[in-house]
Amino acid sequence: MAQPHTDDAGPAGPRLLALSDLHVSHAENREIVEALQPGTPEDWLIVAGDVAETVADIESTLRLLRGRFAEVVWVPGNHDLWTVRHDDVRLRGVERYEHLVARCREIGVHTPEDPFPVWEGAGGPVTVAPLFTLYDYSFHPPGTDNKEDGLAYAHGTGVVCTDEFLLHPDPYPTREAWCAARIDYSERRLSEVSGPTVLVDHYPLVRHPTDILRYPEFAQWCGTVRTADWHTKYDAVAVVYGHLHIPRITHQDGVRFQEVSLGYPREWRRRPAPQYRIHTVLPAS
Ligand SMILES: [Fe+2]
Ligand SMILES: [Fe+2]
Repeated sequence: MAQPHTDDAGPAGPRLLALSDLHVSHAENREIVEALQPGTPEDWLIVAGDVAETVADIESTLRLLRGRFAEVVWVPGNHDLWTVRHDDVRLRGVERYEHLVARCREIGVHTPEDPFPVWEGAGGPVTVAPLFTLYDYSFHPPGTDNKEDGLAYAHGTGVVCTDEFLLHPDPYPTREAWCAARIDYSERRLSEVSGPTVLVDHYPLVRHPTDILRYPEFAQWCGTVRTADWHTKYDAVAVVYGHLHIPRITHQDGVRFQEVSLGYPREWRRRPAPQYRIHTVLPAS
């Protein structure tokens, strides 16, 4: 398989690169990830969640990438946090997340629980802030204005995220309670940063990228209204996210929102060439 492309010719030199939704349990995706190489030994790679469903797959993938890129920055996606039958690790919720953070620390991968690294290369210095904010059902489906009606709408159409069955919030009573705690923690961390940032989250932080979802009711599993002003409040030069499996760049308030998903083979196979690529965050093209 050919080596994945980066998305622009750009100036030569180290880059801050990004990819999400690697979903390496799909054999073709695993092949792509195993072929990933930096352009220079100083390149950094942001991995914006949904690496795999088992701890072993997540750890081995991040270890491989850490061996190739100068720095690797990871945030959890919902799939990374699922507790699936075929994983020997039976941990749920916060304990599962903390277990993944511990594995990352062992292999030298940055997480939302660590000091934020600063990109000093072209386009820098910029603080790269990995975040984990989850969702709280506040992106209501059409014609609804609360969680109960939103979920009822989704059950009516049959478009219900698998998180409802596999992403456990323990010890929090609900996923939205876990989300609220993550928002408070993240705001505390971000308020300590001065200067420009790249905000990294599995979720888009604002709602507009979900406007083109085929099933609008899926938006309720894609973020929270509580992060709507973070891109301006925390001086973002870019917001890097995944989860929607719709790789593209949009802008809001002059800030670049960059979805960097690989996605499932059935999705990337439909794309025009190149069907998959690593995305350049900095320097901006
Ligand atoms: Fe995904
Ligand atoms: Fe996801």
